[in-house]
Parts: sequence; C-alpha cells; structure tokens
Amino acid sequence: MNYWVIIGEGGGFEEVKSIKSDFSRSGKINKTTVRMDDIVFTTGGDGKAKIFICGEEIAPPDVFMLWGHYNEVFEGISRRLTSLGVRSINDIDAKRIVCSKLSTALLLEQAGIPQAKSLTVTSHTSAKTVVECLGLPAVLKPSNGAQGEGVVLLHSEQEIADYISALPEADTNAVLAQEFISTAKGRDIRVVVADYKVVRVIQRVAGNSDEFRSNIHLGGHCEEFDLDDDTEKMCEKVAKVCGLRLCGIDLLQAENGFVVGEVNCTPGMDDEFLKSDRFRQVLHDLIVG
Ligand SMILES: Nc1ncnc2c1ncn2[C@@H]1O[C@H](COP(=O)(O)OP(=O)(O)O)[C@@H](O)[C@H]1O
Ligand SMILES: [Mg+2]
Repeated sequence: MNYWVIIGEGGGFEEVKSIKSDFSRSGKINKTTVRMDDIVFTTGGDGKAKIFICGEEIAPPDVFMLWGHYNEVFEGISRRLTSLGVRSINDIDAKRIVCSKLSTALLLEQAGIPQAKSLTVTSHTSAKTVVECLGLPAVLKPSNGAQGEGVVLLHSEQEIADYISALPEADTNAVLAQEFISTAKGRDIRVVVADYKVVRVIQRVAGNSDEFRSNIHLGGHCEEFDLDDDTEKMCEKVAKVCGLRLCGIDLLQAENGFVVGEVNCTPGMDDEFLKSDRFRQVLHDLIVG
C-alpha cells in the first residue's frame, strides 16, 4: 500500500528541507513524505491526469494525508487525488471548516457542544458592543490563526477600540472577540481523536504565569492529564460532527465544565506519544482503514 504525507505550511513545511521526497517502508506500507510545492498535476485536456513529484511523473498513492493548514494548493491536490479514487485520511471540506474558528463554532453550536461565547468583529465594530456582549477582559483572535499567533487578551474598552481601529478596512479574514475563560489559567487540554475514539489526552501549560496562551510554540509544556468519560464522549462527538478521522480537540476548563476551544486537523502531539507503539498502531489503522 502506498501512502503519501503531503506537508504544507504549518505542518513542518520548513523542516522538510529536501525537495526530494523521503521514502520509507514499514510492513506493507510504503510511505512517501513530500512537500506540497513539489507536487504538480494536470487537469482537463484528455482527462488523463498526470501527477509529477519534483518533475518526475508518478502514479497516485492508495491513501494520503495533508499535514498543514488548509489552503487552495492543498485543496487542489486533495481534489485531484480523490477524483482519481485515492483515499484521504481527512476530508478536504472538513479540513476547510475547522481551519476557520468561526465556521467551526457555528457547526459545533448546532450540535449543542459547549463553547466560549464569541462575537464577530470587523473594522466597523464598536468596542462598546464587544464589552457589552462579552465583558472584560476579552480575547481577540484571527478566525483562521494557529499556534497562538495574534491571540490577545484585552483589558479595557480602549484597548479593544485600538485593536479594532488597527484592523484592515473590509478585511476578508474573520476576526473573533471571545469571552475570557479565566478558570483555564493558561492551560488547555489537547485531546487527540482517531477514528472517533480518544487516543491521547495531554494538558498544555503556558510557559510563564503572565501568559494566558498554552501553545507549545509560545513556550508551553505538556503534562499528563486524566479526562472524565463524559468529556471524552463529547470529544468523540466533536470529531464526528466535524467529519475528521484524525483531529486534536482543545478544551478549556470553564466554570461549569469543559468548553471546546478549537479543533485542529493537523494536531501537534507530544513526543512520548509520537514515539509510542500506540501511535504507530493508530496511524497504521488510519492508513489501512
Ligand atoms: N477565550 C479564551 N479564554 C482563555 N484562554 C484562551 C481563550 N482563547 C484562547 N485561549 C488560550 O490561548 C491559546 C491559543 O488560542 P486558540 O484560540 O487556540 O488559537 P490558536 O489556533 O492560534 O492556537 C489557547 O490554547 C488557550 O490557552
Ligand atoms: Mg490553539
């Protein structure tokens, strides 16, 4: 069985230095890791699609996984391969939805999943409306952000007004204001769900006491965490609602239980898990299944 991992921006793109694909074999699975920008393909014409990696024509694999943030190039590669009958571990439409925190929130709301209250914000929004809806302090974040970038905690109406006045006019990227979950205290719970079963739970803790964001990229670290059965079930439901065979669901500890912070279709995982037999088995089942 031939399996491709296609690496994009936010998926360790920068680390895959070689433009040549790396090739490894484990059991009956031949794995090829390739950067998204090393793949080109044809559309239209005589309808006989050709795919090239690093200039060499290559037969499509049996299954692939896109590893990185959603973008148009990823979408094209995904649709090209699936139209040839290649299985994708995560559906591109599902990936597109969860790359937007706003679309994810609307989807999860329909399924009755608890979440922090949010308000969409544009350069025309009044800071007073934000404060009236969400109170102070409030979190502001880009809807399609990652790794904690651009996620800020603002303590006054003036700070929010300054943030809003710096937004581009008629911006097509959505921005969210969100109630601050003070009980999270710089921690969140990363729940990895594969084939709609929880396979790993880890707590992420912010790097210092002044930081409210728990992202590892910002100096956070991981700790073991035991999650109760009901919350595990909720995470499995979230994965089903989003339609993702592999995802990471981030939970924030609110006053009355956990709320879903976001859903990642390219979830960062701790080294201990990545090196474990359990992870190898999970990946094997995703590829073969
Ligand atoms: N509403 C909130 N209340 C408390 N902490 C938050 C809130 N929103 C985000 N955070 C913290 O900031 C981190 C980054 O925010 P998140 O929305 O996950 O953006 P990103 O996609 O960039 O990781 C979260 O992991 C969490 O620790
Ligand atoms: Mg996050």
